[in-house]
Amino acid sequence: MEKQLKNTGRGQTSFLVFSASLRKGSLNTKLAKLAVKVIEKNGGTVDFADMAEFDCPTFNQDLEIDNYHPDGAEALRKKILANDAFIISSPEYNGSMPGYLKNVIDWTSRFRPQPFHQHHALLMSASPSMAGGNRGLWALRVPFEHLGTRVYPDMFSLATAHEAFKEDGTLKNETLAKRFEDNLIAFMNLVEASKHYPCIKKAWVEFLGEKPAKETERVE
Ligand code: FNR
Repeated sequence: MEKQLKNTGRGQTSFLVFSASLRKGSLNTKLAKLAVKVIEKNGGTVDFADMAEFDCPTFNQDLEIDNYHPDGAEALRKKILANDAFIISSPEYNGSMPGYLKNVIDWTSRFRPQPFHQHHALLMSASPSMAGGNRGLWALRVPFEHLGTRVYPDMFSLATAHEAFKEDGTLKNETLAKRFEDNLIAFMNLVEASKHYPCIKKAWVEFLGEKPAKETERVE
C-alpha cells in the first residue's frame, strides 16, 4: 500500500521560502517558486523572500560596534523567527554554497538569541549538472547544523534543471514531480508535529565534550 503522506491540515504552519540566487532567470528561483505552489496546495502558508533582501556586506568582526547588524541579516532574522520553518533552494558554486549565502548566515548567527537554533530547515538545489548541485547542500548543512538548525535529512536536488521545467513552472518528469511533492509534504508534517505537539524534543546542542563554560556554550 502506498504510504500516505498528504498533509492533513491539522494545524497551520508557515514556511519562509527563498532561492539563494541573486540572478534573474535563476533555476533555483524556479524551484523555490514550485515549492511555494506545492506547500500552498497542501495547506501551508508561505512567506516568499528574495535573496537580495538578505544580502550583507562582507563580514568583518571590526564592524560589530554598538551591536551593529546589517539590514540583510536583520531581515533574515525577522523572517526566520516569524515562520515555523525555512526552505532554501541554493545554487552550488564550486562544490559548495555561494559565498554571499555563507556571509549572511555568519552575520545572522551573531544575534542573541541566535535565530537559527531549533528551527526546522529543508534544503534544495537546482543545477544544469547531473548532480543537481547536491554537493553544495552538504556544505550548507554544516553551518546550519552547527547553529542548531534541525536540517531535514532528505534534500532535493534537481539535475539538468535547465531542461526540467514546463512553461507553467512544474516539472516535466512526473516521477520527479511526485518525489518533490512527497519530500515537501513529509517536511511539512514534521514541522506541523513539532509545532503542535510540543512534547517532541526540540533542544539540540552540539556537544564536543568541552568543559561547560560561558565561552564555549553552544546553545546560543
Ligand atoms: C557554477 N555552477 C556549478 N554547478 C554545479 O552543479 N556545480 C558547481 O560546482 C558549480 N560551480 C559554479 C561556480 C560558479 C562561480 C558559477 C557562477 C556557477 C553552475 C550553476 O549551477 C548554474 O550557473 C546555476 O544555474 C546557478 O543557479 P541559478 O542562478 O540558476 O539558480
